Amino acid sequence: MTVHFIGAGPGAADLLTLRGRDLIAACPVCLYAGSLVPEGVLAHCPDGARVVNTAPLSLDEIMAEIASAHANGQDVARLHSGDVSIWSALGEQLRRLRALDIPYTVTPGVPSFAAAAAALGAELTLPELVQSVVLTRTPGRASRMPEGEQLTAFAATGATLAIHLSIQNLAQVVADLTPYYGQDCPVAVVWRASWPDQRIIRATLATVDAKVDGSMERTALILVGQSLAAQDFAESALYAPDYDRRFRPQSADSIYKESRE
Ligand SMILES: C[S@@+](CC[C@H](N)C(=O)[O-])C[C@H]1O[C@@H](n2cnc3c(N)ncnc32)[C@H](O)[C@@H]1O
Repeated sequence: MTVHFIGAGPGAADLLTLRGRDLIAACPVCLYAGSLVPEGVLAHCPDGARVVNTAPLSLDEIMAEIASAHANGQDVARLHSGDVSIWSALGEQLRRLRALDIPYTVTPGVPSFAAAAAALGAELTLPELVQSVVLTRTPGRASRMPEGEQLTAFAATGATLAIHLSIQNLAQVVADLTPYYGQDCPVAVVWRASWPDQRIIRATLATVDAKVDGSMERTALILVGQSLAAQDFAESALYAPDYDRRFRPQSADSIYKESRE
């Protein structure tokens, strides 16, 4: 018996990995994390599977479901939205499973920040302009931010910021970031990226708060940085015609010539 943790993707049912789909189809028990896991993904569960929404359950109750499947020798598909490596409570579940000696696997999924970038048609890193993406959040009712992980600390780097779980704090996000990025810095809010009702707001730090209305709650990402609108950036050296590289040696004495022959 194995518990398979599976990233269910950001919303569109076809943004699920083939491995994730096949594991779901093979498991007689499916535990899924609430409304962010789309019905189209749950449709891969086999007929007669026990399918449980864990949103109203405590960690102890989730572990009781797993223990029961373990006692029956039934594999479990454990679904979390997006990818399981961020904000999925994977860490605490794996810790419990290790203590109980219950085997598990982890299958990644398409994270929401990648789905939002795709919806925007944006590359979040651009040559010489921005080379880092910070996946972060602001404090919530149940989650304090560790010291040193304040938004202003990340803002000081100028990286592209993908701010999760924070649409309700938008005014504070703007106040924190404006001194670092400037009022004209591009911002995009992507609500329910890849779902049929996806919405996109493009703005600047000066205008975003007025453009986002209260209907875009909870499942939204705030992306901030020059990469969202820049047109004036260098091309990658990797694809420059004269760039000497392993797969395209540029001269007879290239250090890569020999390795290619
Ligand atoms: C509990 S976290 C889960 C993150 C998820 N594990 C991931 O890989 O994206 C939920 C937050 O992720 C973001 N999110 C998740 N799905 C989203 C989507 N389809 N569109 C926009 N933001 C999304 C929102 O910021 C939301 O508040």
